[in-house]
Amino acid sequence: MPNIVVVGAQWGDEGKGKVIDLLTPSYNYVVRYQGGNNAGHTVVSGNEKFVLHLVPSGVLHKNKICIIGPGVVVDPKALIEEIEMLKSKGIDVEGRLFISEQAHVIFPYHRTIDELKETKKGKAKIGTTKKGIGPCYADKVARSGIRMVDLLNDEVFTKRLKENLSEKNAILKTLYDFKGFFFDEIHSLYIGYRDRIKKYIVDTTVMLDEAVRKKKSIVFEGAQGTHLDVDCGTYPFVTSSNSTAGGACAGSGVGPTKIDKVVGVVKAYTTRVGEGPFPTEFPGDLMNEIRSRGGEYGATTGRPRRCGWFDACLVRRSIIVNGMKEIAVTKLDVLDKLPSIKICTAYKYKDKIYENFPSDIEVLTNCEPIYKEYKGWQKDTTTITSYIKLPSNAKAYLREIEKLLRTKIGLISVGQDRKQAFVIE
Ligand code: GDP
Ligand code: IMO
Ligand code: MG
Repeated sequence: MPNIVVVGAQWGDEGKGKVIDLLTPSYNYVVRYQGGNNAGHTVVSGNEKFVLHLVPSGVLHKNKICIIGPGVVVDPKALIEEIEMLKSKGIDVEGRLFISEQAHVIFPYHRTIDELKETKKGKAKIGTTKKGIGPCYADKVARSGIRMVDLLNDEVFTKRLKENLSEKNAILKTLYDFKGFFFDEIHSLYIGYRDRIKKYIVDTTVMLDEAVRKKKSIVFEGAQGTHLDVDCGTYPFVTSSNSTAGGACAGSGVGPTKIDKVVGVVKAYTTRVGEGPFPTEFPGDLMNEIRSRGGEYGATTGRPRRCGWFDACLVRRSIIVNGMKEIAVTKLDVLDKLPSIKICTAYKYKDKIYENFPSDIEVLTNCEPIYKEYKGWQKDTTTITSYIKLPSNAKAYLREIEKLLRTKIGLISVGQDRKQAFVIE
């Protein structure tokens, strides 16, 4: 099997977890390469529902090796809770879950700074998950972060934690009038976490190099979505990592010559959680209808997701920046009842037409989407098992998406369950 990167092509929650779970049986390794427990990847099998935040979505398949790469930021408390949750549902990760020694560690001060910063911003907030992701990546880039390998070395850990606390406590006091954190408390808490997770911490770069040499196959699991990428996304309303396919190399320690294919996951419409421009966002009634039909509530924070029409302009940009050769379309069933469906093909702002996705946040916020309208199929698609059996209007809608994106659809999903999906040969 070729080594493959799976990325979200919109603003996250496209159904990456489901797609990765479907692909895993054909692969040996599943590797998360960025983000942290801001992600919420859902896999549904029969009556069982799993929401994964840090552990790769391939974990439900026995014997598959799951790696949390160097580019991920790990909150050890969240990781331990997730491992326990999996154990309670009969999924054993022992001997097949590995965390990179280079992955950075999230501390309570990261979560607190995330929260206080958002509160202080008021209406101008980003709408983060408040999991401490941004502040942890900020420390990494500022070269003051603490990695898994540092946690394993008492002397280094003590020194770096002291340095961090002295800086963080000063910031917290001065900017937010917050009392700060005590060294002894955090130190002993994290030594406790370390003792629970140290058996998983290894040099995953060497592991993956061996895997590549032995011709084992790898799925790289993207978190968030292309337009939440810190470089390629709708900055500043983005996350703090490279969620695009390029991030798979830096965030896993596997070079670009070892990656064969990039698949983008797209919803048949668009959603976004948090603040930021969203040109095709629905007006009230349609928003409620699609939100309720699609169960559009955040898998990590429970926040209602904003919903809108499919935006071909947005996804065309994703095709480019990820080098996608193929897309998987999810949640087609959510559109089953609509009499007509729109796709945005370009934007208009101050008499200028934008066919390429604009970077200027003012244009994105105030532009008017230019839509093409299609007839709905108004038939249930949730039991359909092949492309040929889809209602003709659904096929026409999908063909139009392929045409507008100049990219082929390789998989279609028509419900939450593993079984509700089919490949297009
Ligand atoms: P991820 O972050 O990209 O993995 O996506 P999430 O798990 O956050 O959100 C996707 C949601 O849609 C989850 O609740 C999935 O169970 C659900 N889902 C995935 N594919 C389909 C589909 O084809 N139809 C429906 N109705 N739900 C789906
Ligand atoms: P998955 O992997 C959707 C959004 C947040 C916020 C912005 C920054 O499940 O698709 P952060 O906490 O990362 O600093 O928040 O990014 N966000 C997501 N939106 N799906 C996600 O992950 C997200 N992870 C972060 O809502 O707008
Ligand atoms: Mg999600």
